[in-house]
Amino acid sequence: MSDKPWDGRFSEKTDTSVEAFTSSIHVDKRLYFHDIKGSAAHCKMLAKESIIPEADADDILQGLGKVRLEIERGEFHYDDSLEDIHMHIERSLADKITKAAHKLHTARSRNDQVAVDTRLYLKDAVQEILRQLLTLRQVFVDLAKKHLDVIMPGYTHLQRAQPILFSHHMMAYYEMFTRDFQRFSDGLKRSDVNPLGSAALAGTTYPIDRDYTTKQLGFAKASANSIDAVSDRDYMMEFLSSASICMVHFSRISEEMVLWSSSEFQFIELPDSFATGSSIMPQKKNPDVPELVRGKTGRVFGNMIALFTIMKSLPLAYNRDMQEDKEPLFDTIDTLKACIDIYTKMLPLILIRKEKMLEATRTGYLNATELADYLVGKGVPFRDAHTCAGKAVNYALGKGKELQDLELEEMKLFSKRIESDLFAFLETHTMVDRRKSFGGTATENVKSAIEVAETQLKSEMAGITVRDLDIP
Ligand code: ARG
Repeated sequence: MSDKPWDGRFSEKTDTSVEAFTSSIHVDKRLYFHDIKGSAAHCKMLAKESIIPEADADDILQGLGKVRLEIERGEFHYDDSLEDIHMHIERSLADKITKAAHKLHTARSRNDQVAVDTRLYLKDAVQEILRQLLTLRQVFVDLAKKHLDVIMPGYTHLQRAQPILFSHHMMAYYEMFTRDFQRFSDGLKRSDVNPLGSAALAGTTYPIDRDYTTKQLGFAKASANSIDAVSDRDYMMEFLSSASICMVHFSRISEEMVLWSSSEFQFIELPDSFATGSSIMPQKKNPDVPELVRGKTGRVFGNMIALFTIMKSLPLAYNRDMQEDKEPLFDTIDTLKACIDIYTKMLPLILIRKEKMLEATRTGYLNATELADYLVGKGVPFRDAHTCAGKAVNYALGKGKELQDLELEEMKLFSKRIESDLFAFLETHTMVDRRKSFGGTATENVKSAIEVAETQLKSEMAGITVRDLDIP
């Protein structure tokens, strides 16, 4: 056998710097399991269609098993001159079973092979991410359920706006991560397509059975166009986009964790086990976990942009540029999984400072809208009521008081229609529980949102299938 599977037409040896430059084995070696899985299915199909003898297929399957063991035991030898995981496995197979190994690559190309491997790999990774997201969503629901009596200021422009239930805030994140979950499961459908049999780009002359390999590999269907099948990386780009959106959500909650745990807010305290100290300032307890999650958002966005840029303007079909797809893909999978995991562990341990949150709702005129709404209830048009309430706030500011601390006589300066019943409306709990519009923060609404979420989670948990780690 010649040095490389493709060097028959070459009269010079590859320069070692080119070998190092073109090699991707340090990155794509993690595709070994899915590569062997794809090869096993391909081999069985070749035998079934009498393209190779049964006895050779048996040898190949046994040989592939040995290669897998060697890799998993850490005994496998990697070498830049063999470029990628596909050529490594093929060479190792040839070393083990010599003759039959050379038949495995009949009716396929590394172009369809790499597409099979990455699709299989991504499908497994997304299944894991979905399972992780289910648990994370459950954590938000549990937090919401546990702290239903906690009221905090809701913000716009990071200015105190109106009081809300802390649980309502947590359920907002539940909604975001639910959409992420849906985006990942939806993307899964487009990854679930079998490119095997597209060969280099045009299909093959051999009488292959693509439905058979599709079934063997657990794909939903075979790809319909061989050119598209070997040049498509949409499934990766879609995953990287969904992951970026998910990281936006993580970076937003991280920012809130950082703010809320500061001395300025004091709304929460992060568990000691999830915070770090300063090497110079003994008093410091730093929110490094949320900060790092916020920071890692940058690399996930970067990975998405990297792959989009790699794919942009590439002529059909396969181009070597596409080998650069794996680093961003793997890095995003690792980063996202780590962020979901750390948040799932950290969130239940956060100390909620209920009193501090409530106290913060009492200053800053969070009940000004309430005063306007009260006047509307007394027949004043909203715009006029808004002006009256604004004037009352201005007056109270001058007196250094909150609205609820003004006397009825002072209130009457702004509207004759104000009576003593106003003060009940200005109370924090009343403000929250009167916001009963669908999706609003009233306790009864939040309770039903929690119930809906629990039912949703239960049915989704039942729907998640266990990953089949077996080579067919
Ligand atoms: N290592 C390559 C990649 O990841 C596999 C496909 C190579 N195909 C080729 N014709 N050079 O893209």
